[in-house]
Amino acid sequence: MAERFLQCLLKTSKPSDKSLVKINWLSYRSKYFIFLQIFVLLKMAQSLSPNDPSSFSRPDLATTLHLHLSLSVNFERETITGVVNLKGKKNVPDVKEMILDIKGLTIFYIYDKVTGADLKYVIGETVADIGTKLSINIENCLESFELVIGYETSPKSSGLQWLNPKQTSGKKHPFMFSQGQPTEMRSIIPCQDTPGIKVPYSADVRVPKELTALMSALRVGNHIDLPDGNRLYLFNQPVPMPTYLIAIAVGALESRRVGPRSEVWAEKEIVDKAAYEFAEAEQMLKTAESICGAYVWGIYDMLVLPPSFPYGGMENPCLTFITPTLLVGDRSLVDVIAHEISHSWTGNLVTNGNFENFWLNEGFTTFVERKIIGKMQGSRMRDLQTLVGYVELRDTITQMGDDSPLTKLVPDLKGLHPDEAFSRVPYEKGSLFLRYLEQCVGGEDKFEEFLKHYIKIFSYKSINTDDFKNLFLEYFPSKEIHEKIDWQTWLYSPGMPPKVPDLDASLMNKINSLTNQWIAFNNSNEITSITEKDISKYSTIEVLQFLNQLLEKEPLSMKTLNTLNELYKFDSNNNFETKLRWLRLCLRGGDFTKLKAALNFVNSQGRMKYLNPIYRELYKNETTRKEAIDNFYQHKDEMMLVAAKTVARIMHLSSNTL
Ligand code: BES
Ligand code: ZN
Repeated sequence: MAERFLQCLLKTSKPSDKSLVKINWLSYRSKYFIFLQIFVLLKMAQSLSPNDPSSFSRPDLATTLHLHLSLSVNFERETITGVVNLKGKKNVPDVKEMILDIKGLTIFYIYDKVTGADLKYVIGETVADIGTKLSINIENCLESFELVIGYETSPKSSGLQWLNPKQTSGKKHPFMFSQGQPTEMRSIIPCQDTPGIKVPYSADVRVPKELTALMSALRVGNHIDLPDGNRLYLFNQPVPMPTYLIAIAVGALESRRVGPRSEVWAEKEIVDKAAYEFAEAEQMLKTAESICGAYVWGIYDMLVLPPSFPYGGMENPCLTFITPTLLVGDRSLVDVIAHEISHSWTGNLVTNGNFENFWLNEGFTTFVERKIIGKMQGSRMRDLQTLVGYVELRDTITQMGDDSPLTKLVPDLKGLHPDEAFSRVPYEKGSLFLRYLEQCVGGEDKFEEFLKHYIKIFSYKSINTDDFKNLFLEYFPSKEIHEKIDWQTWLYSPGMPPKVPDLDASLMNKINSLTNQWIAFNNSNEITSITEKDISKYSTIEVLQFLNQLLEKEPLSMKTLNTLNELYKFDSNNNFETKLRWLRLCLRGGDFTKLKAALNFVNSQGRMKYLNPIYRELYKNETTRKEAIDNFYQHKDEMMLVAAKTVARIMHLSSNTL
């Protein structure tokens, strides 16, 4: 079909008039190459897994049962050299090959530990960003087998970030960390890199002796000093989990105990501040357990990374990774911890089968996160957070276009990297859907019972949206409930959801009225009765929502911006969330004296949530576009690849040179 499509397109572009032959021939040729590329891409996509459009692996034919990783971390070469012992099982007796995902890895050897035989392997096709297919001949292996694979990562591994001492707080030692989600584990270890299967893992890791290695696993015993000057760390993760949750970090780290199952890890310069900021973790864990059931991962440690970490938090089991931008000193941004803690059930125990079903991870987790907030701070706060999320969803969908297929709760990711589909949609549309279902079945208590049941039934499994839907329908067989719910539109239609759940808007209304006063001021330039007292009692989330509302309106005048700053001192506010919104408001209002502050803001950290909107704002305006592009080229090497690629996409720059 692809060939016919190609022929057809070529036919229509053939030159008919001789005088135009030269010009047309050129365009004919370039068109030919474009179509050839499309054809090749289509062909390649055919060998991706039928169950996971982002992986080559076929666990339905032969599956991984356990991984042991033996890793040496080389800071000079910026590589990891490793040996993976992969215990596997044939699911089909005459299966000839086991397919693994790799990305930029050099494979040295593969042999079968059971029989001792060297195994033939083929490094097959590569799909841009997705990676390369590694087919290993297992014809002569027994039904249960163990592959031993020697390999090395590339210094450009997309899942690893290597930092020189200057890029750390202590300035003396280098740092390295990984980010496996969604599909980058294959750039760190050869594996069946699909969340459709789960495996336990163990590891031994060699690092320079002055550094500490941590993984998303339990630490086994004390480290061992080796005669070669390296230090050996041992880990074990007995709970089966998707490969994207394997994680490693190496640096000059210290820890402080903050709870019976929690330590906070960070460089010594910031570890005490971090311990203060995240001291509420145990209370959140207990609240989460009351909602979701027992915590199965043993420990819940937190690791604060250097500023280039591209996310707010990452739910690596036993060891949540956290951005240092949360260290405000007033615990005002710890809802990120509530979010990552919630993933211990939704995401890490019940896992999306592929990234088209990402809302099962993030929508459920956002929903549980807000239930925790509700239990700890009251239901008005839960509702305010949900309404704030609703506004964010509306902004996201306006920006993406309300007919964009990527605004569907369950998008089609064939031919698309999950990072390109990433947005607030799975988080906010997903959690809003669950909130809506909660109301359909008669309230929070009834739905919480179902949530516990859902987690119990699907723990240790990978599931898709239909598994959730079928369980829901089985648990709530009432016809009356069914008739209310428009599953098709919620799950598979683009744009805003068909219904908004009823929410307590009292806190929101208070903020609305302040926003309206400021808009009236902006429109009339008249002195009003606004005073600094207006927000002195606001919580951080309320201040942020006030700024969000102003961002939804027409750009503010310089006078309004100055008055806002005089009263509320936004210029000197060091909370990253406040700063993000304040800078956007100023740039939008044409206050280009803020350009330097905006560039400092993006250069001081690498969290995509903060980079993307500021770069988008700077790019949008011709006055600041060139500075934004120049600044990006100067600083791109300090960013993790995923962040650099996303910013390049926002500013329509080629990602080939990244
Ligand atoms: N699992 C995500 C981070 C992620 C998403 C990594 C997609 C790779 C691909 C994490 O749980 C998350 O959602 N983090 C949020 C914080 C949260 C409070 C919304 C973030 O990074 O901002
Ligand atoms: Zn999350």
